[in-house]
Formats: sequence, structure tokens, C-alpha cells
Amino acid sequence: MVNHRGPEFASVMTDVLQQLKPFFGTTREPLLLTGSGTGAQEAAIVNVLSPGDEVLAVTSGVFAERFAAIAEAFGAVVHRLQGEWGFPISPAAVRQSLKENPDTKAVLVTHNETSTGVTNDLAAIAEVVRDTRRSHHPLLIVDGVSSIGALPFEYDAWDIDVAITGSQKAWMSPPGMAMVVLSEHAWEAHREARMPRYYWDFTKARKNGDKRTTPFTPAVGVIHALQEALRIMTEEGPEQIFARHRRVGRRVREGVYELGLELFADPSAASNTVTAVRVPPDIDASRLIRDLRQRHHVVVGSGQDWLKGSIFRIGHMGWVHDEDVEHLLAGLRTALEDARLEEAV
Ligand SMILES: Cc1ncc(COP(=O)(O)O)c(C=O)c1O
Repeated sequence: MVNHRGPEFASVMTDVLQQLKPFFGTTREPLLLTGSGTGAQEAAIVNVLSPGDEVLAVTSGVFAERFAAIAEAFGAVVHRLQGEWGFPISPAAVRQSLKENPDTKAVLVTHNETSTGVTNDLAAIAEVVRDTRRSHHPLLIVDGVSSIGALPFEYDAWDIDVAITGSQKAWMSPPGMAMVVLSEHAWEAHREARMPRYYWDFTKARKNGDKRTTPFTPAVGVIHALQEALRIMTEEGPEQIFARHRRVGRRVREGVYELGLELFADPSAASNTVTAVRVPPDIDASRLIRDLRQRHHVVVGSGQDWLKGSIFRIGHMGWVHDEDVEHLLAGLRTALEDARLEEAV
């Protein structure tokens, strides 16, 4: 491995930080953390909040619930704005909740809820949070684990305070690194924040980041993979990548409908990085997933939590092109036919 305190690593890190910025829609310098998306969720919370702080958690799926649970575990007073799973969070409901909870210190939003295949209207939610800032300054903390790098994301323009993502999603790299961007407002909150932290301390991450290293040994190999992924992504260009995800997402949904299947997500908010599909009542979900993997070399995800057995999830973020979608749909068609034939025998 390359020495993470040496000049080769510094040069790779400089390159990675530079190339991340257009995908976050920011001119600010990201922090690199060693850990998965959940680590970044925890880091985002413990670095800007204190025990007893009031938090509004906008939840309608597994990952948003996890975000809320982490805040609770570290002593925040969490108010949940619970939306219906499969539907986007209403910005008007966020406005109302902020009115009802005027001491809210931070709002937790999951941009793309991977468990349900829903993309929330982050621009509209951010506008609501920005509006209320005049009186009581809530921080807007965004989980962009399955959106940033694949879906349009305007950190600066939307005035987001903390945004997180993870190397294994749109960044097409192995798991192990998380990337975070903080606003000035978030850095101010960080200086006052008293939640316990050590490994995730952003002061340490920034101090070391300024010297193009990390506080502790990072996942060096993953950072090298990220550098190459970002080279490919920069060559294609953010706008082209976003357009490809729109096209691929649309084609997956069309193909799903053509097979007589239904989406779990409300079509108005269906995600362009993950599609959740309802399993028809005459089909066994785990068998279908196994068959897709074993006979068609297509790996899809199962439903999580109470959705286990009733949906499956098709990931289409990162290096996914039209031919991959056609391969998936052809496999799915045969797997469904086989399942029905076997059922009939
Ligand atoms: C939106 C979202 N947040 C958080 C996570 C947790 O990330 P990890 O599994 O890398 O800890 C995931 C993982 O799929 C996710 O999709």
C-alpha cells in the first residue's frame, strides 16, 4: 500500500477532492472519512449537535429511520415527520413541522430513500428550511448516499449544511470511504457541538485534510479506486451522467410495466438510481431473486424491514447502461415465466 503520509497519497487525495466537487455542486472542500454510509450518517450528527438538541427527522424508509435512530442514540430529542413509505416527503409538511417545533436545531433528510426507491424533492425541502432560517437557523443535514454522483445535487445553490455519500454507490468503488461536505454554518455548529466523538471528529479530518492526509489510516485502496472512478466520471461529465441515469431509470420503469409489474414508489417520485418493484402475489420473492442470480446473473436486492418478501429492488446507479437494463429485463421476464410455470406444475 502507498504510505498515506507521503507525497503519492497527497497527490491522489488532492485529485479526488477536486473531482468530487462538481458532483456535489459545491466549491467547498469535501472531507474524506474511512467508513461506510452509516458511519457518515453518525459523523454528520455527532459533529454538529449536542445532547438535548431538537432534531426534525423526515422519515419514510429504512435509511431515514436509521438517521433518526442515530440522532436518538446520541441524545438528540427527535421529532419524526413520518411520511408514507413509497411517497415523497411533502415540503409543506416540513414547513408545518418546523412551525410546530420552533427550537429545531437540525433537519435530517434522506435525498434518495434506497429502501423504497423514492427521490425526495430536496430543492423544495431545502427552500422550506432556508425560509425558516431567518428566525431559528435549523441545519439541513442530507443523506445523499444513493443520490450524489448520479442525481443532480446542488449543495451550494440549495444551501445545504451537511451532505454525505459513500464510495460504493454512484462512485462505483468498493465500500469503505465516505465523503462529506460542510457549510460555514455547520462548522460554526461543530465548534459548539458536544455529542461524544473521537474517530469521526471533523476538526481532526479537516486539519489532516488540509495537509492532504487523514487522521487515521484510511482505506487507501478505496481512495485509489475512487480516483479512477472520478476520472471516468469527469470524462463523461456530471450532466451526461445525470441524463444517463434519467434515461436508464425511465427504461427500467417502462420495462417493469411491460412485464405487468407495479412499482412500489409513487411514479411521480420514482428514483433514477433504484427501482422498487412489487412482487406479484403468485410469486415467491426469495425464489425469484435467487433465480435471477443463479440463472440470469442479475443481482437484485430484497425488500427491507416490513417490505421483505413484498418488493425487490433494482439498483441502477453508477456504471449502468442501456444494455445492462435490457439484460436485466430479459432475465426478469424469463424468471417470472419460469416461476409461474413451476407454480403450475
Ligand atoms: C440512503 C442510504 N443511507 C445510508 C446507507 C447506509 O450505508 P452503508 O450500508 O454504506 O453503511 C445506505 C446504504 O444503502 C443508503 O442507501
